[in-house]
Amino acid sequence: MPLFYQQDINDTTRLAIWKIEEAESFFSSTVPIQREITHPHKRLQHYAGRYLLRYLFPDFPYEEILIADTKKPYLPYEQYHFSISHCGDYAAAIVSSNKRVGIDIEIPKDRILNIRHKFLHPEELNSLLSQTTYTYSQVLTILWCAKEAMYKWWGWGLVDFKEMLRIGEFNLQAEGVMSTRFIKDSIQIPLPLHYKQFEKLCLAWVMNENTL
Ligand SMILES: CC(C)(COP(=O)(O)OP(=O)(O)OC[C@H]1O[C@@H](n2cnc3c(N)ncnc32)[C@H](O)[C@@H]1OP(=O)(O)O)[C@@H](O)C(=O)NCCC(=O)NCCS
Repeated sequence: MPLFYQQDINDTTRLAIWKIEEAESFFSSTVPIQREITHPHKRLQHYAGRYLLRYLFPDFPYEEILIADTKKPYLPYEQYHFSISHCGDYAAAIVSSNKRVGIDIEIPKDRILNIRHKFLHPEELNSLLSQTTYTYSQVLTILWCAKEAMYKWWGWGLVDFKEMLRIGEFNLQAEGVMSTRFIKDSIQIPLPLHYKQFEKLCLAWVMNENTL
């Protein structure tokens, strides 16, 4: 069974991670896609992400998906809010009938060290110094994953990760919730950010009904 992880968050919101072991035909026989993707593995990831939407909610209307200028996929009548991520041989999706959502998965890699100043605020870089349980690149990967999930929750693009997506004090565990804030034009939206670390994969997701 290639279902890697599933969490039914509540009656209206579910998420899952799929470990892709199938050939493309497994997905393409039931999942329509709207754009041409020439790279075979990227196409497979794309299919797997879409597949999860109906896996989580069997009445998910694939045929109504539109793609915004920002590349965010959405349903114009918002029967469901949803967010998708893929990394390596994994795909993840979160679907909610009543809450805006964002999800990201990442495989920890040391090269995240090189870009830490681009996406982290100096206060967040400071908090990093007190984390002792996990390696520097594991902690950075979770923070990157968290900010990508927040970015997707927002969905409108044009986000300065360092200034607009802010993570409060945290003490990283195998799984937990971080208090984060989305800041725009002096308005702050608190967003509880959930994360979970698997052996070779990190997951972050956010769910909140507020927008600006
Ligand atoms: C869009 C972005 C979040 C995708 O992240 P990624 O790690 O490359 O890829 P993921 O597999 O996790 O996510 C891809 C999915 O995100 C979704 N997505 C794309 N753009 C989106 C957007 N603007 N809002 C919400 N979701 C979006 C799509 O569902 C896409 O999958 P699909 O095309 O198969 O449907 C990322 O490329 C990006 O643009 N990040 C912001 C860039 C930035 O400002 N960086 C500054 C940091 S220093």
